[in-house]
Amino acid sequence: MSLLKRLNYKNRKYYDDDFDWENYTDDSYHRRLKNDIESKFLTIAGPDDLTFDRSTGILSTKDRGIHPNHSAILEVIGQLQPETVHEIGCGAGDHVANANIVFPDIQTSGSDRGDSQIALAQKRHPDLSDTFGVLDATMPYSRFWPRADLVYSQAVIMHVHTAVSHFVALSNMFAMANKYVFLMENLQCHNFVSDIQNLHDGGHTSWETMYIYQFDGSTGARGVLLSKEKLNYPALTSDAELRKGLKFSKRRIKRSEQDSERGIFGTKIC
Ligand SMILES: C[S@@+](CC[C@H](N)C(=O)[O-])C[C@H]1O[C@@H](n2cnc3c(N)ncnc32)[C@H](O)[C@@H]1O
Repeated sequence: MSLLKRLNYKNRKYYDDDFDWENYTDDSYHRRLKNDIESKFLTIAGPDDLTFDRSTGILSTKDRGIHPNHSAILEVIGQLQPETVHEIGCGAGDHVANANIVFPDIQTSGSDRGDSQIALAQKRHPDLSDTFGVLDATMPYSRFWPRADLVYSQAVIMHVHTAVSHFVALSNMFAMANKYVFLMENLQCHNFVSDIQNLHDGGHTSWETMYIYQFDGSTGARGVLLSKEKLNYPALTSDAELRKGLKFSKRRIKRSEQDSERGIFGTKIC
């Protein structure tokens, strides 16, 4: 190896997540929740605040609206009617709590890699304290992790950029899900469609069959819905299709490409 190559090798880029999750609640999450979300939207719903109409598949709010992403999560749950739902990276736990209020017959739970995020969820939702627990989705799969019909994340995988850990987290979400995986993420931050298709084709999902759909919530948020069985939603074959009409950031797309390139999906070995 030439001297220049050796120097470059030692200086090769270290990829990292967007935040330090150990200090995330104190550093920014608590403040962002208050200033950016709670100042504009309803975050913790009371019994009559939110209503899901099964005939239209639409969530409506009594007074204050909830964030479009949060509304789409509840609409996915309402439309799919799973028996059990688990949120990866649940942070303050509000989506788990709201799902519990709107769909009392559906068993809901949430996990997060940060102790302080789980402590915040338990403080905000003391009645649901036992349903929250620590789980790092980028660790190798654990047989002690919960399984659910629907496993989803909101604003989690989009921030994960260390080595191949977003692939690991996605693969684990499939392993935890009996029927569906839903991603409510910034759709430029990873090449979700091609990364997931590659994971599946390379045997890194536990499902034999997988269908990729676009899910548009009634208030404008867009997510990716993965299902073991065929469903009646718009099918996706590329990230370009998924990103149609969304705002574009060259920097984010470039980082998505770099993240995708680190995936090695191997060959079948007999
Ligand atoms: C932007 S916050 C979103 C929190 C919550 N989903 C929400 O919508 O308010 C990202 C969350 O993902 C969690 N997280 C990051 N990496 C994770 C991992 N590998 N496994 C589980 N949770 C993770 C963080 O601790 C943090 O709570």
